[in-house]
Amino acid sequence: MAERECWKSRTGMILAMAGNAVGLGNFLRFPVQAAQNGGGSFLIPYFIALILISVPIMWVEWAIGRNGGRHNHGSLPGMFDLLWKNPIAKYLGAIGLFGSTIILIYYAYIVSWTLGFSFFSLFKTYFGLTSFDGMSSFLGSYQGASVGYFSSGWLAYLFMLLTFAFIFWIMKRGVSGGIEKLALFALPALFIFAIILAIRVFTLGTPDPVNHPDWSVAKGFAFLWNPNFEMLGDAKIWLAAAGQIFFSLSVGMGTLQAYASYLKPEDDIALSGLSTASINELAEVVLGAVIAIPVAVAFFGLDVTIQVAEGGSFNLAFVSMPVIFQKLPFGEIFGFLWFFLLFFAGITSVVAMAQPLISFIEERFEISHNKATTYVGIFTLIALHFVFFFFQYGFLDEMDYWAGTFILVVIAFIEVVIFAWIFGMDKGWEEFNTGADIKIPIIFKYITKYVTPIFLFVILISWTIQDAIPILMMKGISPENIPYRWGARLLMLAILFTIMYMVHIAWKKNKRKPVSFDS
Ligand code: ALA
Repeated sequence: MAERECWKSRTGMILAMAGNAVGLGNFLRFPVQAAQNGGGSFLIPYFIALILISVPIMWVEWAIGRNGGRHNHGSLPGMFDLLWKNPIAKYLGAIGLFGSTIILIYYAYIVSWTLGFSFFSLFKTYFGLTSFDGMSSFLGSYQGASVGYFSSGWLAYLFMLLTFAFIFWIMKRGVSGGIEKLALFALPALFIFAIILAIRVFTLGTPDPVNHPDWSVAKGFAFLWNPNFEMLGDAKIWLAAAGQIFFSLSVGMGTLQAYASYLKPEDDIALSGLSTASINELAEVVLGAVIAIPVAVAFFGLDVTIQVAEGGSFNLAFVSMPVIFQKLPFGEIFGFLWFFLLFFAGITSVVAMAQPLISFIEERFEISHNKATTYVGIFTLIALHFVFFFFQYGFLDEMDYWAGTFILVVIAFIEVVIFAWIFGMDKGWEEFNTGADIKIPIIFKYITKYVTPIFLFVILISWTIQDAIPILMMKGISPENIPYRWGARLLMLAILFTIMYMVHIAWKKNKRKPVSFDS
């Protein structure tokens, strides 16, 4: 068997891990979630969820991943199988592998829009469309969802193919030759772009002091940073905050584990994990928060900004921001920086979504990396077409809810129970501390064992009742979209069962029993 790859340098590994986490979630999803959930009030449950669930699970995921790598497992089925000697464990892992695969498909399509809009900014394609309606119709026609500036979706198709080609070119080059090199370049670049944009926002002050003295960047910051304790009684805010931190840190996706599997057996995870989480938080709470919302408050006022945010992340990024760029000198450059920053953020996350499936096929079926990548590439390209053609009917939203929101919590709950209770927290604590460059406070041993699973269980039950059941019953979905939503579900089920079947075949084929975690 070919020797397993390793990260070339610690910096490269940390940047790749940070690239995995820092994504559209930081720059689009976070500001929108914060604005929809009371601004500053959102940050309190957000930080509580960060400390009590996300940081412990992140360490659990790094530990599970590094151990998986010791035994040539880069994906969850094998990793869970090592921790729990029960035939069901690998199928639970298959659910995680399914999650990252679905996110890969729809996320790649969204990332392709950011590439398209980078060019549209640079070439001033949308300049002249200065209203929300104008930009909405530009975006809608680009997506092929409505008639407008573009007469068909072919340009979106072209950018989708370009993005796809780029992703699989990186994947073919492997972990250190592709993913690590990309991160070494893209992460610093995206931080530089974000800092330039943040400085531009800071220096805007009050753009129209005569007519709108109240519309200012400061007002936007105040909205995002002043906590309103009264709103904390609302369960919805807690759920939204937990969902955001999960998506943003890439917890419950199987991607942190996949990357950690390329660590050396005694490499530190305690400090490295914390460092990448800190980079993610810096990108989210500092940079993600200072750009899109404060600038919108400065140009449109707080009420309109909240309305824009209610319209969702795409509305904020692809409608409101381009309207603002047209009001700024050198707006085409700032527009380019914004969309290319999103492209870098997205592409470094999307390659992480592809990695678990590639390593699963490569390792469990013992085929070359090149072949495994080609198979995953062909599959992704076919699946992308469904998202592309049926986007306007809610196909992508359906996938995003189940794979990008619900399953993350399911997987996180399963893995923390397997790790802390079945494998055992005493051994788990040893794993956290193997090779550690910092001393993790002992309290985290107990938080991981008791608080995290209970917190997750409560979230899971509340989500199931509040969201999952109504969404499952298609509540609020317009009747013409229902067949397409069912189509998305059928596609997802087909992928889930295919992955489960592949797990079944791989284990049957591999007579050699997987080596146990503690052997
Ligand atoms: N963690 C990635 C993001 O924030 C998926 O977009």
